[in-house]
Amino acid sequence: MAVSATKIDDPLDPALVKSLYTAKCGICHGTDGAMNYAGAKDLSISNLPKAEVVGQITYGKGTMPPMKAQLTAEQIEAVADYCISLRKK
Ligand code: HEC
Repeated sequence: MAVSATKIDDPLDPALVKSLYTAKCGICHGTDGAMNYAGAKDLSISNLPKAEVVGQITYGKGTMPPMKAQLTAEQIEAVADYCISLRKK
């Protein structure tokens, strides 16, 4: 595709990833991950392995909508990393 010259190994722009999270996830999970709207799990205390985070973002679960039609695999991966970064250390 001519639109994106981004190679698969290039990390996405962190500002873009943050805005994707805010737009697609923040309504239920909140900017800090702990909002719990509509039964959303608290991402700041989640210990789900990354592969399952990626799967759940891709296919959804319960009232969480699947993102596979809205985000590329690369964006889903980057947003998964962003969720993990919200965890309390
Ligand atoms: C409509 C509200 C809603 C939106 C939007 C939403 N989620 Fe969720 N999310 C949920 C709900 C509800 C659950 C709990 C699902 C279950 O276990 O039944 C959940 C669970 C999760 C979990 C699993 C946490 C755990 O420990 O089990 C992750 C990770 C997650 N969401 C990430 C995201 C990301 C990233 C986005 C944006 C791409 C997103 N969610 C968008 C409602 C939402």
